[in-house]
Amino acid sequence: MLYEHLGVNELGHLTVGGVDTVQLAEEFGAPLYVLDEARLRANCRTYTQAFAAHFPEGSYPLFAGKSLCFKGLYPVLEEEGMGADVVSPGEIYTALAGGFPAQRLYFHGNNKTDEDLIYALESGVGHFIVDNHSELERLNQFAGERDIRQKVLLRVTPGIDPHTLQAINTGRIDCQFGVPIETGQAARFVAAALSMENLEVEGFHSHIGSQIFEAEPFCDAVDILLEFAQEMRQAHGFVVQVLNLGGGFGVRYLESDPVVDIPGNIKALAEHLRQGCQEKDYPLPRVLLEPGRSIVADAGLTLYRVGGIKTIEGYRSYVTVNGGMTDNPRYALYQAPYTVLPADRMNDPRDFVCTVAGRCCESGDLIQENISLPRANRGDLLAVLTTGAYNFTMASNYNRLCRPALVMVRDGKARLAVRRQTFEDLVACDL
Ligand code: LLP
Repeated sequence: MLYEHLGVNELGHLTVGGVDTVQLAEEFGAPLYVLDEARLRANCRTYTQAFAAHFPEGSYPLFAGKSLCFKGLYPVLEEEGMGADVVSPGEIYTALAGGFPAQRLYFHGNNKTDEDLIYALESGVGHFIVDNHSELERLNQFAGERDIRQKVLLRVTPGIDPHTLQAINTGRIDCQFGVPIETGQAARFVAAALSMENLEVEGFHSHIGSQIFEAEPFCDAVDILLEFAQEMRQAHGFVVQVLNLGGGFGVRYLESDPVVDIPGNIKALAEHLRQGCQEKDYPLPRVLLEPGRSIVADAGLTLYRVGGIKTIEGYRSYVTVNGGMTDNPRYALYQAPYTVLPADRMNDPRDFVCTVAGRCCESGDLIQENISLPRANRGDLLAVLTTGAYNFTMASNYNRLCRPALVMVRDGKARLAVRRQTFEDLVACDL
């Protein structure tokens, strides 16, 4: 089994957090997002404990809400001592509606509108991660008008390529996020920020990419950021108090993927930072990371009901399910790998090679190709593992399909956290 919180019971059914997935589908319907709360908490603790052990006090992990965002998630994050990275007023609203303290929010975005900035300021968002000059000026003005001295981090791009998918790689120089160090623009950005009387610059932010398996690219980013920090100290006497190194530790989608040693990577990163600071005689900054995927991906799975098999003779067999790119667009977008399991027939031999297709009117609507399952029957239940990140949040209503419900399992019990959409929801905004 890919993860230890999954199991098989005496009926040959897949279990998650001790709950039978077949029962979950019967009770809540399918497609269904399932999130294991114990695993989610354990993933948070992996970070918080490694942070406590290796980074200076005041360092903490921020959960990246872009990977998963619903009200009921935020009380859990708060209990686990996480901060949160938010990228839109909608994410801010959701976090606050979930009771999350505004002070522990870090607001991202490369195109925050005036309304966004004002909403976040008036909501008391603790930190803004400023992406560009226009934002700097507007934020300074709006903060001043409200008598707020706003804490900010400045987003800079160190120009690292962590050898990941192009589409999820944001540390390169040529990208729409942040201000590049190499071209000299970041130095001017810092000078401008330090002159803003309503902003308090705490440090820098960089995000180099996603699905990163080792500490090395983060260490490379630290080298570049420290070098830059040193220059800024010399130029302005400005000392960085916080380095936010973004998100990106990877997760296992397949058995063949490596296991990521997050505590080991954090330790290596902390040692690298300490050494770099010593060499430059630079005060050790507090550190923030923004993990999304590695907190929620493996805590989640999706259940689908099989509609039938279609064999194209001489080509392949399609197993169709009652969801698809509307609840998980990641194969259609990135050819992302997933492990698919026969949730109600875990002990049957998997000798049927097939492609799992969704129900949308689009030939690219596939969940996974060339995988092995028991020969499927109409009504079988399939589980797609590791769907906790970037599935729920990237879901759509294409073909006017209703978005699935999301249930959280804990202590052998399940509770509905997000209800399934209804047809009324689909037309709720239509006038
Ligand atoms: N911080 C920043 C500034 C980010 O841009 C991201 C992800 C994260 C943190 C969280 O990264 P994570 O720990 O989740 O890798 N839709 C794509 C992923 C896009 C990631 C964009 N930024 C996918 O489905 O793989």
